[in-house]
Amino acid sequence: MILPDGYSDIPAGKIAAVVTHLEMTARPSRRDDPPGAWTLRKVDAPALDWYRDLHRRVGEEWLWFSRLRMTDAELVSVIHVPGVEVYALVADGRDEGLLELDFRQAGQCELVYFGVTARLIGRGAARFLMNRALELAWSRDLRRVWLHTCTFDHPSAVAFYQRSGFRPFRRQIEVADDPRLDGTVSRTTARHVPIIE
Ligand SMILES: CC(C)(COP(=O)(O)OP(=O)(O)OC[C@H]1O[C@@H](n2cnc3c(N)ncnc32)[C@H](O)[C@@H]1OP(=O)(O)O)[C@@H](O)C(=O)NCCC(=O)NCCS
Repeated sequence: MILPDGYSDIPAGKIAAVVTHLEMTARPSRRDDPPGAWTLRKVDAPALDWYRDLHRRVGEEWLWFSRLRMTDAELVSVIHVPGVEVYALVADGRDEGLLELDFRQAGQCELVYFGVTARLIGRGAARFLMNRALELAWSRDLRRVWLHTCTFDHPSAVAFYQRSGFRPFRRQIEVADDPRLDGTVSRTTARHVPIIE
């Protein structure tokens, strides 16, 4: 369905974002690693508590709710499967960034989750993480790397991804139940998306 031009009402209790899909079809030129003592750690078969905690610390402020709504069995079925790889960015001995890659579609890699915790935003850690993500992706026999981001995410995300070599190619509207109203995420989070109930 194509939304009509003009304003479309979203019911109270729901949230709505504009989603931008971006892709690259060749290995981009490399950007320098900013100075910083970060490392990347691959986490095989992540413990669910560990994954949910990191996911929440990186994404709650940006209303990342889908994974937090999943039951244990649902979460296992998306992160403990061949072709899906989870990595943590380690800073000062702590896991402070999340990278999730999905290689399940032949010839493609989706950056399913990408982000760092609040204290690392704007410090160069995300560039370090993206450099590692692109090395991991393009070390395979791929023809496409893609991701999507939305207007709930950090406002620098779209420009950051474009500087990284991604090209926007698709726009969508996502509507969902507000995850702050059912306890999925804290009610006091994401003030850039005010609650309407
Ligand atoms: C959106 C997000 C990825 C953007 O990253 P960021 O924190 O602004 O990125 P960084 O600070 O690592 O890098 C930004 C630029 O500043 C530069 N920079 C930052 N600190 C630097 C330093 N100390 N010295 C030199 N350069 C530095 C980086 O090199 C980079 O430059 P480039 O893009 O030209 O290569 C990040 O804010 C984030 O993870 N947000 C939370 C989760 C989120 O919204 N994720 C996106 C969901 S799809």
